[in-house]
Amino acid sequence: MPINLCINPDREKSVINPMIYGHFIEHFHRQIYDGIYDPANPLSDEDGLRTDIIDAMKKIRVPILRWPGGCFVSAYHWKKAVGPNRTPVFDKAWRIEDPNTFGTDEYIKLCRKIGCEPYICTNAGTGSAEEMSDWVEYCNLTDEGEYAKKRISNGYTKPHNVKYWSIGNENYGHWEIGAKSSEEWGRLVLESAKMMKHVDPYVQLSAAAIADVDWTFNLLKTCGHFLDWISVHQYWDMVPEINELADYDACMAYTYEIDRTVSEVRGMLTALKLEKKIKIAFDEWNLRSWHHPNVHTITQGANKEDYLTPRDKNDDNSSYTMADAVFAACFLNAMIRNSDIVGMANFAPVLNTRGCIYSYDKGIVLRSTYHVFDLYVNHMGDTYIDVCTDKGELSAVLPVTEVKDKKGMTRSVTSLDICATGSSESGEISLSVVNKDADTSHDISVNTCGLKKAILYSINGKDKDSYNDINQNEIDISSEKLQISDDGKVYISVKPHSVNVIKLI
Ligand code: AHR
Repeated sequence: MPINLCINPDREKSVINPMIYGHFIEHFHRQIYDGIYDPANPLSDEDGLRTDIIDAMKKIRVPILRWPGGCFVSAYHWKKAVGPNRTPVFDKAWRIEDPNTFGTDEYIKLCRKIGCEPYICTNAGTGSAEEMSDWVEYCNLTDEGEYAKKRISNGYTKPHNVKYWSIGNENYGHWEIGAKSSEEWGRLVLESAKMMKHVDPYVQLSAAAIADVDWTFNLLKTCGHFLDWISVHQYWDMVPEINELADYDACMAYTYEIDRTVSEVRGMLTALKLEKKIKIAFDEWNLRSWHHPNVHTITQGANKEDYLTPRDKNDDNSSYTMADAVFAACFLNAMIRNSDIVGMANFAPVLNTRGCIYSYDKGIVLRSTYHVFDLYVNHMGDTYIDVCTDKGELSAVLPVTEVKDKKGMTRSVTSLDICATGSSESGEISLSVVNKDADTSHDISVNTCGLKKAILYSINGKDKDSYNDINQNEIDISSEKLQISDDGKVYISVKPHSVNVIKLI
C-alpha cells in the first residue's frame, strides 16, 4: 500500500528566505588561493577569478556568500588586504602565509560576478570594535572619512554597500584565536554593534552564538537590541583530527533531530521575546567537519606533514557520496520547515575542502551536494506549505528505519524526509521526498491539487557510495514526466538513497 501524501497549498506556513541556500568561503586550503582566485590559470578572468567556478555558482544561484572566515578571521586585519601594497601575513589560525592579494575589493568583485549578497564576518578575536566599524566605513560610506577615501583611492568610487555583517566567529570555542567568556562576548558585541551601526544604521548584524543558554542568553540580553541575526554553526561527523568518515548508515543517524540546534535557539529567542526581531543564520553547516589535524589542539603540528599536508584528504572526491546528498537535502528540508525563524544558511564551504564544487587546474567536479542545491534553488518554491497523509501527520505515519550511528548504537530515523513548497508567482507546487534507506524503495501517492503536469526530478547514483570525480559523473539530476491517474494522483516508487522533487505545474 502506498503512503498517500496530501498536499494542502492553501495552508501556507511561512515564507522561505532564499538565503537558506547560501554559501561560505574561507581563506583555507584552496578555497581562495589556488581555488576561486587563481590569476595564473587560463580559466581565470581579468580579475584572477575562475570563470568556470563562477558559472557553477551562478547556476545554483548562490544568494549570499560569507567570507573570509571561519577561524581565519579571528586574527585577520582587513586593512592589510586593500590597496596597491598588500602585506603578506602569517595566518595564525591555519599556520600558513596569506599573501593578502585577495581582500575586500576582490571579494566584492567576486560577489558581483556571482550576483550574490556579500556577507562579511569580522575579527572579534584579536580585532576591535573600531577595526570592525572602520571596515564598514571602507565598504559603505560614500566619501566621508579616511576609509571611504581610501576605497576611492583604491579605484572604487561607489560604496560596496555590504548589508550583512557578522561579528565574530565561534569566539566561544577554545580553538578560536581570541576566544571570549560569555560576559566578555556580550560587551564586545555591544560596543562593536554600536560603532558599526553608527557608521551605517542600515547594516544587518549577526553575532556568533551557540545553543548554550549562558552564552546566548547573555549575548541576547546584552545586545539583542542591536542584532538582526544570530549565527550558529554545526558539523555532524566531526573529523578534524582523524579523517575516519562515518559510513552511510551512520550519516543517516545524524539526521535524527537534525534541527535540534534551531529548536534550542528558537526557544531562547522566544523566551526573550526576540523571535520576531532576530532571525537565525545557520552560517556554517555541513555533514562533515573539515579535516585539519594539529591546529585546534594544544600541541601544534611540528612540521607541515603534521598539519598542512593532511588537509589534502578533504579533496578526496570519492568521499562525497549519496550520503552527503541525502543529508544535505534533509538539512535543507529542516530549514524550510523552520523558515519562520531561519533566514539564512551557509554551506561550509562552497568550494574545495568539503565543498559542493571541487576545482583543479583544468576544470571542476560537481560533487553530489552541488546537485542538491541545483535541485532546490531551481525547483523548490518560496512558501512552505502543509503536507500530511490520509492517515494523519507525517510523523505518525512515515516508516522508520534502524541504523547504527558512528558509535555502533542503533538509532531509529524516519525512512523518508518530506516537505512541500508553493510558488507565490507561478502557483507551482514542489514536494521534496528524500529516501534515506540504503536498500528499500517506498511507494507513495501524491495529490496533484488540480494541476495538470507532474515532473519527477531525482538525484541518485547506482548505489549509495556513488560519487563524481574528474572524468567520472555517477551522480546527476534526472527528470521524467509523471502520469496523473484518474484519481488526480501520481504514484511513485521512491528509490533507495535518493533525493527527489515532484513538481506540479
Ligand atoms: O573546520 C573549519 C572551521 O570550522 C571554520 O573555520 C570554523 O568556523 C569552524 O570551526
